[in-house]
Amino acid sequence: MTDHDIELVRESFAHLHRRKVETAAMFYGRLFEIAPEVRPLFTKEIAEQSAKLMETLTVAMAALRDPEGLTALLRKLGRNHRSYGVEERHYASVEAALIWTLRASLGRGFTPQLERAWTSVYRHMAGIMIAAGRAG
Ligand code: HEM
Repeated sequence: MTDHDIELVRESFAHLHRRKVETAAMFYGRLFEIAPEVRPLFTKEIAEQSAKLMETLTVAMAALRDPEGLTALLRKLGRNHRSYGVEERHYASVEAALIWTLRASLGRGFTPQLERAWTSVYRHMAGIMIAAGRAG
């Protein structure tokens, strides 16, 4: 995850955030299509869950330049996710749904460079969450 990756991800996130309701609906729609087994893990209303997800991503975007703050947040999230019943393999499904959503939403603006940047940032975040989940 380079500084340039962070810059690219932040810029494109601003665009998604302006259409957060639609973006979140696309993301969960896609996730439940490719990984229907995760649907029962979500107990809250999807509208509420979506708002929370976008809020966290906003915090994560702000925290990308504050690695220690971001790591602390992600460790806590990783432990929470274990208790929600999230398994390590689900992180790959979420990655796929996220990349799909970005492509559908940004269209031609979703360049290969932007895809690499988002993948790198997502894997960085997921890696910390997974490690924290393992540690218990
Ligand atoms: C970088 C990756 C991820 C981020 C940033 C993220 C973020 C969040 C946030 C902020 C919440 C709200 C509750 C809390 O603060 O703990 C949440 C809840 C949740 N997330 Fe994630 N998540 C990620 C990956 C995943 C994955 C891979 C799954 C697997 C399906 C997942 C499933 C869930 C579930 C089931 C809940 C609880 C919903 C409920 O109680 O209804 N998340 N997530």
